[in-house]
Amino acid sequence: MLILGIETSCDETAAAVVEDGRLIRSNIVATQYAIHRPYGGIVPELASREHLRNIVPVVREALREAGVTFREIDAVAVTRGPGLIGALLVGICYAKSVAYALARPLLGVNHHEGHIFSVVFENPPVRYPALALVVSGGDTSLFWMPEPERYHLLGHTRDDAAGEAFDKVAKLLGLGYPGGPVIDRLAKRGNPRAVRFTIPRTSENDFDFSFSGLKTAVARYVRERGLRPVREGEDVPDVILDLLASFQDTVVRTLIQRLSRALEAYEAHTLILTGGVACNSRLREEAFRLGREANIPVYVPSPPLTTDNAAMIAAAAYPKLQRGERSGWALTAEPGLRLHQVDARSGRHALRGRG
Ligand code: KG4
Repeated sequence: MLILGIETSCDETAAAVVEDGRLIRSNIVATQYAIHRPYGGIVPELASREHLRNIVPVVREALREAGVTFREIDAVAVTRGPGLIGALLVGICYAKSVAYALARPLLGVNHHEGHIFSVVFENPPVRYPALALVVSGGDTSLFWMPEPERYHLLGHTRDDAAGEAFDKVAKLLGLGYPGGPVIDRLAKRGNPRAVRFTIPRTSENDFDFSFSGLKTAVARYVRERGLRPVREGEDVPDVILDLLASFQDTVVRTLIQRLSRALEAYEAHTLILTGGVACNSRLREEAFRLGREANIPVYVPSPPLTTDNAAMIAAAAYPKLQRGERSGWALTAEPGLRLHQVDARSGRHALRGRG
């Protein structure tokens, strides 16, 4: 089955052709970094306009690279949420038009489920139960997956997503957008123990995350030390390198602490780490270390598959389309769409240790 995947939930216009849910025939991503960089973050209206400009050439390129025509496509999968409403609508309207014109099935996919499915391309099949941490610019959520396509939300961020914290700290220090890759690179030159930030605590749920306090602590440190944003082309001073390394270290320790608690409480056979922040070199290292200690495999997609892309959307759609699931023509954008359900069948989870 050849699926055309389309993803426009945020600031990437993406299209991919995926064969039988696992073989990537093409995976095209047009980023909008240059458009949003002057603002230090995504401007939703600009994102929608860019998607409108990009969607046709990006899909054409995906078909060309896959060596297929529209007629050879068996189904169309598109992100239906969560994301920016205007941005999502561009992809959805386009996907509907293609599916309608070709008389092919259409399926709307949850963006976070797409991120979790991005591990299918480069790894052996996931062994369940699994734990999945989706850590991106828009979300930080930890899921318990007793079986494929069942998601029980263990914890999520109470405020900023981890990627958002990276982006805001970078903006504060004049380091550009997106902040994650820049901080990752610069943090390698700093001392992660230089500034002592505390790991944010979330009293009601041990698995929840919170990053806005850390972002405020960085802003306070910058103010108290009288630091100013780095100008373009200027060398980054040691004091800022140390600050970045310490900030990154705290984000990574927070994520790893929650993962480690979850591994103690739940008997997982695979650990999945995905979303844009999963590109972070320190986080990847620490996640692999955790996996070795717990003696379970850790699946982290390579960077082009862990950031937003459409191959993951096609992959998530595959088993559902095979079962005959379809979206109607009333399919629309769901900016706040969630991905979780309590395990209704068994009503409980494979708990170990902590009840
Ligand atoms: O998954 P993604 O492409 O888009 C969303 O769905 O949000 O994630 C983008 C986020 C941005 O916040 C970006 O700063 C962050 O991922 N990111 C990173 C790294 N590469 C991208 N954060 C930390 N370290 C990185 N190397």
